[in-house]
Amino acid sequence: MRNKPRHEHWGSQIGVVLAVAGSAVGLGNFLRFPGQVVNYGGGAFMIPYVVSLLLVAIPISMSEWALGRFAGRHGYHSPLGMYYVASGRKRGWGIVGGMSMCVPFVIDMYYIFVEAWCLFYALKYLGGMLEPIGLGFTLGSGDFAGMRLGSGDEYERFFNATTGANQNGALFSRAGAPLLATTIFCVAINFLLVYRGVSKGIEKFSKRVAPLILLCALIMIIRVATLGNPLGRPGQSFLDGLGFMWNPTRDVYNASGEIIGRASVWTSLLNPETWLAATAQIFYSVSICICAVCTYASYVRPKDDIALSGLSATATNEFCEVVLGGLMAIPPAIMFLGSRAADGFSSSFQLGFIVLPNVFELMPLGQLCGFVFFFLLFSASVTSSMSLVLPVVAFFREAFRCSRGASVLLGAAIHLVGAFIVIWFTKGLTALDTYDFWFANFAPFLFAIFQTGLAAFVWGTAKLREEIALGSKIKPPTFLAFVVKYLSFPYLVVIAIFWASKNLKGRVLATMQDYVAQLSIGFFLLLLAFLFTLSVVTIRRWRAEGISDGYGIQTEKEDNSRS
Ligand code: PHE
Repeated sequence: MRNKPRHEHWGSQIGVVLAVAGSAVGLGNFLRFPGQVVNYGGGAFMIPYVVSLLLVAIPISMSEWALGRFAGRHGYHSPLGMYYVASGRKRGWGIVGGMSMCVPFVIDMYYIFVEAWCLFYALKYLGGMLEPIGLGFTLGSGDFAGMRLGSGDEYERFFNATTGANQNGALFSRAGAPLLATTIFCVAINFLLVYRGVSKGIEKFSKRVAPLILLCALIMIIRVATLGNPLGRPGQSFLDGLGFMWNPTRDVYNASGEIIGRASVWTSLLNPETWLAATAQIFYSVSICICAVCTYASYVRPKDDIALSGLSATATNEFCEVVLGGLMAIPPAIMFLGSRAADGFSSSFQLGFIVLPNVFELMPLGQLCGFVFFFLLFSASVTSSMSLVLPVVAFFREAFRCSRGASVLLGAAIHLVGAFIVIWFTKGLTALDTYDFWFANFAPFLFAIFQTGLAAFVWGTAKLREEIALGSKIKPPTFLAFVVKYLSFPYLVVIAIFWASKNLKGRVLATMQDYVAQLSIGFFLLLLAFLFTLSVVTIRRWRAEGISDGYGIQTEKEDNSRS
């Protein structure tokens, strides 16, 4: 007896919009985006960002929703079945889809670790804040137990000590145990929520968390906006903070801190790296080409709207990123540390975990803000990481025809192996960095080309257009499919080639010299080989049985619906 997957659907349209928006809104919005804006020239970054939004995010997310719902209608929920059915059951495409699964799987292995940092920091702030009124709630042990942090380097020291960035295996010592426990807790809630199913687990949770995220953001923004010019220094008011993000030109300083001129917007715009960074940010932030949106869309009912839902989810994400993320993180850094100080940091972790804690210390109600900020990050990241877990679970269910429970267990087991490398090799966060580089930067570009190529050239613009229009509550522009084919696809190819020529060689050379990076790559290759084999075997079985539909419907019958 074949174990047919049961039909699973979202409970409501608002539910799916909130779930997809929940997937999109995460650490990328509140940590990565502000970090990138500051790194790439403030307002000048916003120009390629908006271009990528129009050229990449909207058309590609639409095509991803369409592919997902189409595949879901045929009983497929993982990229393996999705690529297979959309390509007219081509084995090669199915295998590409199966292998694209490695992207959400690997991102998940370090994303949940960062999620745990956020929860840990939130609890730390809560502990610090409650201490004076006698609850004595503290977390952690050793040097930092219950301490109120000082300023300057101490935050960096604290960050390194907490995340184990000083020493491999630090999380497995007594001092590291609290973060390790927090990480295990985060892995468990993610897989448990996915185990509960799309509507009872993911949708319900996303609906509950959305107001909480908005409330936290509102508290933060009101606090930040009412600070005025807290230090009374020129160029460090709230409006200066906003101006830093939106003005395309900005001041240039010499080594002793004097303004020596203004950088032209062209300096940033003519630097191709700005374009790469903006496009990569869009992928990451909107959760596209990482198997998340298409998997979620495959659980939409066959004729439910996708055009309006897709646009609403993207719009919600952009609001949270540009408005909320932009207001919350950049202005306070400028207000307290000045635009030169903000220039000095190089990674988004530095902004979130080192610069902002300095700022919270300086501002009135800073302890509360610290808690609210990190709690917001934590809540937003749970709804994102669930969408990284679901494709994996759907994939194993399709490949092994097993129950959801078995699939969740297998996913969690492999997750723990990959996550172990990240959690053990914490020195300099090298493993995390390797995972992030290959799977949040390189792989999405690669699979974006495959996915967009599949939608535009193999599945075809006619079907794409038809699918988007089916059941749509708004009239999607007919040129959308052409934008995917003639603008988004070539744009992606150009950006990817440029990206590879610029970044690949240096990174490969660096990898060859570092054993942790090599170990990580070894793990990736094993995972890819596993996904490849599983895809080949699954497709062979589908073909041998003459079943080419996730529900087990005969090929002939299914063929009619394809034509
Ligand atoms: N969009 C999420 C964020 O901004 C990250 C993510 C990417 C989640 C891809 C799912 C898929 O943090």
